[in-house]
Amino acid sequence: MGFSLPATLSIPLRTLRRDLHAATAGLRGRPLPPCSTRSGEAWPDPVAVRDARPLRVDEIDVLDGDACRVWLVDPSGAPIRFTAGQFLTVLVSVGGRVEARAFGLCSDPAAGERVAIAVRRRPGDSAVDALIDGLRVGRRLHVRGPAGRHGFGLDPDRRAHHVLIAEGEGAAPHLALAIALLGTEPRSRCTVILADRRPSRLLLRRSLEDLAAAHPDRFRLVFLVEEAPAGWEGLVGPPGADGLIDAVDGFRGSAGAGGGLPRVWYLCGSTGLVDGLEAGLAARGVAPADISAWRLLVSPDPQAPPLPSGTQRVRVRAGGTSRTVLVPPGATILEAARASGIALPSSCTVGGCGACRQRRVRGRVVHRRPHCLTAEEEAAGVVLTCVAHPLGPVELEPL
Ligand code: FES
Repeated sequence: MGFSLPATLSIPLRTLRRDLHAATAGLRGRPLPPCSTRSGEAWPDPVAVRDARPLRVDEIDVLDGDACRVWLVDPSGAPIRFTAGQFLTVLVSVGGRVEARAFGLCSDPAAGERVAIAVRRRPGDSAVDALIDGLRVGRRLHVRGPAGRHGFGLDPDRRAHHVLIAEGEGAAPHLALAIALLGTEPRSRCTVILADRRPSRLLLRRSLEDLAAAHPDRFRLVFLVEEAPAGWEGLVGPPGADGLIDAVDGFRGSAGAGGGLPRVWYLCGSTGLVDGLEAGLAARGVAPADISAWRLLVSPDPQAPPLPSGTQRVRVRAGGTSRTVLVPPGATILEAARASGIALPSSCTVGGCGACRQRRVRGRVVHRRPHCLTAEEEAAGVVLTCVAHPLGPVELEPL
C-alpha cells in the first residue's frame, strides 16, 4: 500500500524538493534554464475548454532570463497553418480561472508541421508566469487561433521595401513576416527595426541576425536600445516612438536604403508606441494605406468607459440561425454567448487578434480598451465581441 502525504504537506515538500534540485543543479555547474519546468505538478491542469486545440510542446529554446521560444506540434500530426503576422492564444489555468494570453507566432509559416511562439514574462502577469514555469517538452497547451491580421499579404510579383518596426514582443510576428516576405518575394527587400531597453532583451535577436546573414543583399537589421554596453554597434536612444522615428529618419536618409523601392510599413508594439509611430509616419507623408499596425495588448486601459448597468439583449447569428443572447451587466457579448451555449468565433478573448469581429446591424456597444480595431473600423460598425458591452438592444451579423 502506498503512503501519501496530506496535500497541505505534500505541496510545500514538492516545492522544497524542486528548489533544492534547482540549487544543486547550479552548484553542479549545470543550472536549470529559466524556462524549464520546475516540477510536473506545478503545471496547471490542462484546461478542457470548448473550441481550444491541444498542441504538444516539442522544444523549448531559452532566449534570455525572461523569455523563451516554444515549439508546438499537433499531437495528431496535423499541420498547423498560419499566416505570417498572426498570434496564437494560449489558455492558462491560474488561481482557479482560465486566462487567455496571445503570443506572436515567430516561425516560418511555410514549415507547417510545427510552429513556434515567443513567450516573455510580463510584469505582474501571473498567468504568463504560470505558463513559463510549467513549460516542459511533451506538455500539452490548449490554444486558440492562429488569429489576427497584420501586413499586406504575400505577392511573389511585388517589388517593395518592407519596413518592420517593433518593440519588445512585437519582434515575434515581425520575424515570421520577414521570413515569409524574403522567401516569397524575391524582388522585395526587408528592414527590421527592433527596440528594447537593453541588448539582452532584444527578443529573437539571434534568429534575426541569422536571417540577416542569410540575406545580406535584401535584409537589413537595426537595433535600438536605451542602455548600451561598451562596444554596442546598434543605435542608442529611448525605445519609444520618438527614438524609433529618429531611427527611421536616419535610415531614410541613408543612401541606397531599400534600393529606391516603394515602402510599406509594419508597426507592432504597445498602443502608445504604435499610435506615436503612426503619427510620426503620417507627419512624414506616409499614407495610411501603406501602414499595417498591430497593437499588443499587455495592460488594461486606465480610463475604461463606464459599462451599462442592466441586462441587454443582443441578437447574433450562429450556425445559420439567429439567436438572442442576454448579456448581464459587466459581461461581454462573447462571454454571455458562451454562457448560453452559443459558439461565436473568437481566439484571444482580450481584444488583441480580431478573430471575434462582427458587424453591428443596429444598436450601440462600448469596447473595453485597448483593442485592435482602428477608429475607422469602430465607426463603421465593426464589433469585437470579446471586449464589447451592449448599451441597449443590439443586433450583430458575421463579418
Ligand atoms: S477574440 Fe481576439 S479580439 Fe476578440
